[in-house]
Amino acid sequence: MKKLALIYWPKGGSVEHAAKIIKEKLTDFSVSFLCVEDISADQLSDFDVFIFGGSTVGADYWSNKETEMAWRPFFAEMEQKNTRLDGKKGALLGLGNQVLYPDNFVDDMMYMKKKLEAAGLQIIGETSTDGYAFNESKAIVDDKFVGLALDEDSEPELTNQRIDSWLSNISGKL
Ligand SMILES: Cc1cc2nc3c(=O)[nH]c(=O)nc-3n(C[C@H](O)[C@H](O)[C@H](O)COP(=O)(O)O)c2cc1C
Repeated sequence: MKKLALIYWPKGGSVEHAAKIIKEKLTDFSVSFLCVEDISADQLSDFDVFIFGGSTVGADYWSNKETEMAWRPFFAEMEQKNTRLDGKKGALLGLGNQVLYPDNFVDDMMYMKKKLEAAGLQIIGETSTDGYAFNESKAIVDDKFVGLALDEDSEPELTNQRIDSWLSNISGKL
């Protein structure tokens, strides 16, 4: 059984909630459920495949309060230690709110994609934008989200089916 690291941040909100649902459904993998605050970049070498889950909390907010965003120090540690994930695959989960932030919906999935691809990880699991209502997102390549976009604020009733359809698509590819 492949060892999958389901790495999320922050704790206690919609990201953790969605990540827990995903964890329960990942029956074909040996899953480690890890908050990014609690791991070091060195641990990544223990795993075969990855899911990284985070939320978008706004570019201004991030740049003003960098230290509050736990992904930044983690990716900085990866860069500093030259952590390599070549030959491995991963998928992205992004929480956002398309009603309040229609011009930046789940933007930060793209931030994660760039950081992880720079370390050699192959990102899979892009999804259709059909069924969402927003204006712009930085997390789109070739008309598709670069991972699974979830909106627990305004469409929580769709979360379960979006997760099911995403997992059925990626499970055999990871
Ligand atoms: C200060 C703040 C800024 C946000 N900015 C964005 C945004 O730019 N784009 C977006 O899609 N969602 C944005 N959101 C919505 C969150 O991503 C959404 O509520 C998410 O579910 C939060 O998950 P968490 O509680 O696990 O952090 C923002 C939320 C807050 C509180």
